[in-house]
Amino acid sequence: MSEEHFKHVISHSKEYGFVFPSSEIYDGLAAVYDYGQNGVELKKNIREYWWKSMVQLHENIVGVDASIFMAPKVWKASGHIDGFSDPLIDNKDSKKRYRADVLIEDYQEKYKKKNQKEIDKARKRFGDDFDEAQFVATNPNIARNNATIADIDAKLKDGLENDLSKVKALIEELGIACPISGSKNWTDVRQFNLMYSTQMSATDGESQIYLRPETAQGIFVNYLNVQKSGRMKIPFGIAQTGKAFRNEIVARQFIMRMKEFEQMEMQFFVAPGEEMKWYDYWKEHRLKWHTNLGTDPAKYRYHDHVKMAHYANAAVDIEYDFPFGFKEVEGIHSRTDFDLKQHEEFTGKKLQYFDNERNESYVPYVVETSLGLDRMFLVLMSTALQNEDLGDGNTRTVLKLPAALAPYQCAILPLTKKDDLPDMARRIMKDLSLDFNCYYEEKDSIGKRYRRQDAIGTPICITVDHDSLTDESVTIRFRDSMEQKRVKIADLDAIISKEVSMKELLKGLV
Ligand code: GAP
Repeated sequence: MSEEHFKHVISHSKEYGFVFPSSEIYDGLAAVYDYGQNGVELKKNIREYWWKSMVQLHENIVGVDASIFMAPKVWKASGHIDGFSDPLIDNKDSKKRYRADVLIEDYQEKYKKKNQKEIDKARKRFGDDFDEAQFVATNPNIARNNATIADIDAKLKDGLENDLSKVKALIEELGIACPISGSKNWTDVRQFNLMYSTQMSATDGESQIYLRPETAQGIFVNYLNVQKSGRMKIPFGIAQTGKAFRNEIVARQFIMRMKEFEQMEMQFFVAPGEEMKWYDYWKEHRLKWHTNLGTDPAKYRYHDHVKMAHYANAAVDIEYDFPFGFKEVEGIHSRTDFDLKQHEEFTGKKLQYFDNERNESYVPYVVETSLGLDRMFLVLMSTALQNEDLGDGNTRTVLKLPAALAPYQCAILPLTKKDDLPDMARRIMKDLSLDFNCYYEEKDSIGKRYRRQDAIGTPICITVDHDSLTDESVTIRFRDSMEQKRVKIADLDAIISKEVSMKELLKGLV
């Protein structure tokens, strides 16, 4: 996917009512975005796919909806007040600020791309006989590149954990230049806390409160409430979707890195010693959730963390191949018993579980899956948006979203505005609206209307023509194949249901 394509995603998102810059008539607000009439539907459908796959398909996972505001001490206990920061570095010439670790990871990416080129070349040469695993294990160029990557990883980890001046030294050693100015004139690396704060009450000066930087803590503080009221047995999970806020200094790449965004998180509570088994389970299951949407699996990869968050003993990202390289979409973290133990210590309340089988009480260990809804939205828009050559000298812009996630499931289009066609179309619409989100449109030629529906990803268009008045049939047209066929109005509900069914999508996960 090229930079060009990414620009197209951004302009298309605005032109067709998916994503707008926030407060645009006031010239916008950096790294804050609003979802438009089509964006809000797509976002809701992604959320529903996640919720159903996590909560409905797992009898031992339930949901909560905790507040954004929490007792301020939560963030002291969770380690966010002291430890939730990014290492930032400024370029003195361009005055641009960067995350030091991201500059280094972007540099490493060059070596990863070189490896991929070697693999692609060899695959072409050897054809069907190509054994990728053996090639990767024996090719000297790949070995050299991997050694370089590992060496940088080790130095970065040491610097981030022990001494930030070593991170600056590494940037200088690698000769990393500012992408804007090309200059290597860097400041020192400093830590910058990412939490926003505000005042809880207008009168009490002592009432500083934070906007949550992750939804997870709303789950931890409710762990016992849910476990007891739901009589949950370990292992069990608590899922939640909702807004989170981070003062991202280096906010860029559209909705990839925002100051206000939405997370879909699940904390899975397990017995001590069982966490790595569940970590592996969720790692695999979550990748399947992504590829189940029909995205090319080669577009996804795992990336093990070099530096763990303060709460984790194992962490992996599921990364997607964006135009700016592979970047994190979802994180899977083994959070140990860190969070619950901290909340025990800070509240003096026991957050334990009595395990009948083991005949003992313990603080459960936690495996977390954490997906950014906005990033997932970007993955889908980037994959789905296509300029298709129709082979007759024409092209069309089409958004090939998974049908179950499209903003509208069908569009109802009377061929003309006259001759009772709109009346009949509205009658059909009234019926179908009980099951589906339907778009009604009677302006412009039918060809233009088809193109507009293609551009917002509507899987099925229904055209009501003069014959419909007598034969109780309509023409339906499928977005992807552009195939058209005549069907009975009475069959429409069943045909659309089959095409856009969330159930069919979910079946891929069971
Ligand atoms: N509770 C764990 C946690 O918050 P994280 O890796 O910091 O982990 C999880 O965030 C996911 O949230 C990321 O994989 C990403 O999809 C999304 N995310 C994080 N920061 C974001 C931002 N500034 N803008 C948009 N999405 C973000």
